[in-house]
Amino acid sequence: MAVDEETFRAALRCWASGVTVLTSRAGDTIHGMTVSAFTSVSLEPPLVLVCADKATITNGVIEEGGVFAANVLAADQQELSNRFASKKDEHRRFEGVDWTQAVTGAPILPGVVTALDCRVTAAHDAGDHVIYVGSVEAVVPGEGEPLVYHHSAYRSLA
Ligand SMILES: Cc1cc2nc3c(=O)[nH]c(=O)nc-3n(C[C@H](O)[C@H](O)[C@H](O)COP(=O)(O)O)c2cc1C
Repeated sequence: MAVDEETFRAALRCWASGVTVLTSRAGDTIHGMTVSAFTSVSLEPPLVLVCADKATITNGVIEEGGVFAANVLAADQQELSNRFASKKDEHRRFEGVDWTQAVTGAPILPGVVTALDCRVTAAHDAGDHVIYVGSVEAVVPGEGEPLVYHHSAYRSLA
């Protein structure tokens, strides 16, 4: 029996996750979006995965540039999460953000709990998304508690 979309969405809302801003670079173009579909894959070698909607600008930049950084947001970074998820002014998301870079050139955001700088090693077609597996080339450690997303709302661990 096929699962209807609302039933599926309701089930997914039960899953608590962290929140990342997935950034990428292709030449002089940088872009990024809020992503909860991030997980570890392998310890040896170090691999993670992210899932990007094919319709997003970020997906196109990752496809072209072959790199991404998963910036794990801190509990006080809800504004950043909203900014990188909103389609209003999506080309101005980095304005006023003092980002840096590590190895791949994908933007590393300030104030995050940690950031994983990755090179794409595999891209798997998956429905309306692409699963990108990334080899972790650098970790940029930060500090603080992570932002949590559950039932369409931000939470914190405290
Ligand atoms: C909490 C949260 C989690 C999200 N997780 C994902 C995700 O895992 N993958 C994805 O493609 N979009 C995800 N989105 C939606 C994108 O952030 C949103 O579509 C964004 O505007 C796409 O930007 P772009 O088209 O400029 O790249 C999420 C949004 C929010 C608020």
